[in-house]
Amino acid sequence: MGAVSEGEVVTGGTASDAAPPAHGSDFLQLRAEDAPPGGKADWLAQRLRQAITDRRLAVGSRLPSTRVLAAELRVSRGVVTEAYRRLAEDGHVEGRRRGGTVVVAAPPVVPRAPSASGPPRRTAPAHGPVPRSPFDGEPGDDVFDVLRAADARIDLTPGRPDLSAFPRTAWLRAERAVLAELSAADLGYGDPRGAPRLRRAVADWLARSRGIRVEPDGILIVAGTAQALTLLSPVLLADGVTGVAVEDPSSLGTRQHLRHGGLATPPVPVDDNGVRVDALRATGARAVLLTPAHQFPTGAVTSGERRRELLRWAADGGLIVEDDYDAEHRYDRPPVPALRSLLADRLCYTGSVSKLLAPALRIGWMIPPPRHLDALTHAKRVTDLGNAVLPQLVLARLMETGQLERHLRLLRARHIRRRNAMIDAVTAHLPGAVVHGAAAGLHLTVTYAQDVPDTELAAAALAHGVKCQPLSWHRQLPGAPGLVLGYAADPPGAITEGVTALGRALRELS
Ligand SMILES: Cc1ncc(COP(=O)(O)O)c(C=O)c1O
Repeated sequence: MGAVSEGEVVTGGTASDAAPPAHGSDFLQLRAEDAPPGGKADWLAQRLRQAITDRRLAVGSRLPSTRVLAAELRVSRGVVTEAYRRLAEDGHVEGRRRGGTVVVAAPPVVPRAPSASGPPRRTAPAHGPVPRSPFDGEPGDDVFDVLRAADARIDLTPGRPDLSAFPRTAWLRAERAVLAELSAADLGYGDPRGAPRLRRAVADWLARSRGIRVEPDGILIVAGTAQALTLLSPVLLADGVTGVAVEDPSSLGTRQHLRHGGLATPPVPVDDNGVRVDALRATGARAVLLTPAHQFPTGAVTSGERRRELLRWAADGGLIVEDDYDAEHRYDRPPVPALRSLLADRLCYTGSVSKLLAPALRIGWMIPPPRHLDALTHAKRVTDLGNAVLPQLVLARLMETGQLERHLRLLRARHIRRRNAMIDAVTAHLPGAVVHGAAAGLHLTVTYAQDVPDTELAAAALAHGVKCQPLSWHRQLPGAPGLVLGYAADPPGAITEGVTALGRALRELS
């Protein structure tokens, strides 16, 4: 878009066209003649809002300067300034001194209400398909991808550690050392159970940090908990297990993996002591997926009495799948050893580096009950012949040299500051809300008293430029609305700003 000086006329055609000169801008093809008399600022704000909604103006794009746009439209500069001010109030744009005025948030695309004449229609925009709102209807298989792709300036979705702290230098150093000592043969196909060196290092790590005693040969290296559940599903089905009971609420993501494996996921309520074992018995399920160290998403720690009840349930023939997803992140409470430290025969343990280092590494481990070890090794072999070897060896070295522990200590200190910032912000901006599960992990669950569906609140938050997950995504049983808020990945300032916007969104809806 070129700047237009006073007196110039911008037309859509050539100088020889007979049409009267129009006052317009290439920018969004705005024409001041379209504005109703006396309502130019309103008209302009509305046109810009529409362009942000249908993504012709993407988050991050810069609006023309007020001087340039006013000149192009032949309106006073005050008209453009007023329109930009309104968008800033909505939270859609932000003035950044030298950086100009920048789009910082887009409202989610809300489908039209179904009409009597048929299903809702969506108007195709001129520039590609309309992005879907992740919060419409039941969350589908790709809901986390859709949410990840949504534009927002602050991301409070749970499940990520502080990724800006990834130990790049230590990783590079370890990778150099590994490559220097690697033989040519090491670069061939490896053991589908994982590199022996990493299985040894994981065995030592789990002994130190989770109280688990296991031989390296009892460990299978996998591509995260996600793959552990995917590999486990057919093995359980072959054993006549058709469903794995899950905590309620519990991670939608892990449930999706089990369902894709053909397993039912009957819900079992949790309380402050963990899963209700009486309710588990009532389901008749032969297997259960649990997060005993830090229940996802409520944060409850399974109490001693519940652990004993669970061991009795397992002794009666049940299988426990222990998802130890973020147990290393503890702040205000003593370490809780993994259930696997008490039970080996009837328990399948899973963990990963997703919350320790980065989900993108896709490295995790499982310790199957001995009777399933061969079947799971076979499942891993036929799936991918084993994880990539180089990252396994680098991780092994980080574990052997104490770098991973050092990294975890650094993360803990940062995470505590971020968690405290989030609790303070919730207290200040979501009055009456209750914070759950603050003593450990990377997220908080916040429930609130207002009669506002949490999917609507999450959608409104996204419109304010903040991403989070509604608690109802993680429920199969009815329960209070709430939000699951990750605090680990962003600095305290962004967390405070994000929660402030959540408070604004909740006030607008209640
Ligand atoms: C409850 C739960 N389990 C497991 C995981 C980790 O999965 P993976 O190890 O496949 O990255 C997550 C990630 O967010 C989670 O929330």
